[in-house]
Amino acid sequence: MKVLVTGGAGYVGSHSVRALLASGSEVVVLDNLSAGHTAAVSRDATLVRGDLSDASLLDDLFEKQRFDAVMHFAAFIEVGESVVDPLKFYDNNVGNSVRLLAAMQRHSVKRFVFSSTCAVYGVPERMPITEDMPRRPASPYARAKLAVEWALADSAPAWGLGFVALRYFNAAGAAADGSIGEDHDPETHLIPNVLKVALGQREHVRIFGTDYETRDGTCVRDYVHVEDLASAHVRALDVVEPGETRWYNAGTGQGATVREVVDVSRSVTGHAIPLIEEGRRAGDVPVLCADSTKIKKELDWSPKYDKLHDIVASAWQWHQTHPNGFDNRRE
Ligand SMILES: NC(=O)c1ccc[n+]([C@@H]2O[C@H](COP(=O)([O-])OP(=O)(O)OC[C@H]3O[C@@H](n4cnc5c(N)ncnc54)[C@H](O)[C@@H]3O)[C@@H](O)[C@H]2O)c1
Repeated sequence: MKVLVTGGAGYVGSHSVRALLASGSEVVVLDNLSAGHTAAVSRDATLVRGDLSDASLLDDLFEKQRFDAVMHFAAFIEVGESVVDPLKFYDNNVGNSVRLLAAMQRHSVKRFVFSSTCAVYGVPERMPITEDMPRRPASPYARAKLAVEWALADSAPAWGLGFVALRYFNAAGAAADGSIGEDHDPETHLIPNVLKVALGQREHVRIFGTDYETRDGTCVRDYVHVEDLASAHVRALDVVEPGETRWYNAGTGQGATVREVVDVSRSVTGHAIPLIEEGRRAGDVPVLCADSTKIKKELDWSPKYDKLHDIVASAWQWHQTHPNGFDNRRE
């Protein structure tokens, strides 16, 4: 298969590019490098530096490359920023997704895998979360993701598009060979920020909220290894057929509290990792955990990394060997 991967220079995209190549696909990455890194893109993939808003670039790419499928990772990802500047998110995450779909329609490309998020559920009424639970997204970021799911569902019949929307839980970890990993700026995800303390780049970890009704008072999240997410994308591409629409939660089903992440990180790194306890942060949900029965059954997918220790250890390998992230950061 020949696959266009938007945002393939980013964190989840770059790991998925490698998984696609390993499965025998030919890969073209389209990335504007606003948050991605040239060095994250496998040399076996073609990297096109460009923006999704450029309709003539998209037409040119689709015309010349004759893609069988598109994997769409490109988006802005910071929930807090989406609250401050919602239109920036609607423009890139919704508007550019619509432009991409329109180009696919013009060129009759009928297979699509979309990076959605567990944030579409908002504050779920029960745990773990199944795909049929109500979608009540609580931020512009999450609403924009849900808007794309709607655009997909509404427009797919017009040209027989088949799509899989993967609602990721918390992506974490790094490539097993230590060559690529997470490098966001600013970094808002817990595990890299905890490991930055172990590296001496931050003084302490801030815990927001210690009085939640969880086993130790801190928030619980479902950490899914980025290589497992990548393999879920490959499985999604294997099964998606034109005209067929699917939604899956992509998580391990196992939750870890913030304190557990810190404790595991202490044991992995041998560093004391000091904590500062602060009050709850507006908008944080106490527990987010996937029921991943559907994806396991229908895509025959199961995460290889089912222990938080192994996820943190793989992230630590990356951060230790790349303390400043990718070399091309200030290119
Ligand atoms: N990381 C997570 O835990 C997580 C969880 C749920 C959903 N997601 C979704 O998964 C996707 C990938 O997340 P990530 O953590 O890898 O993010 P990332 O920021 O590392 O990667 C996104 C990539 O898209 C590129 N990009 C953004 N706008 C673009 C545009 N207009 N044209 C071309 N390229 C553009 C960026 O340069 C970057 O390389 C996003 O859609 C995100 O919303 C991520």
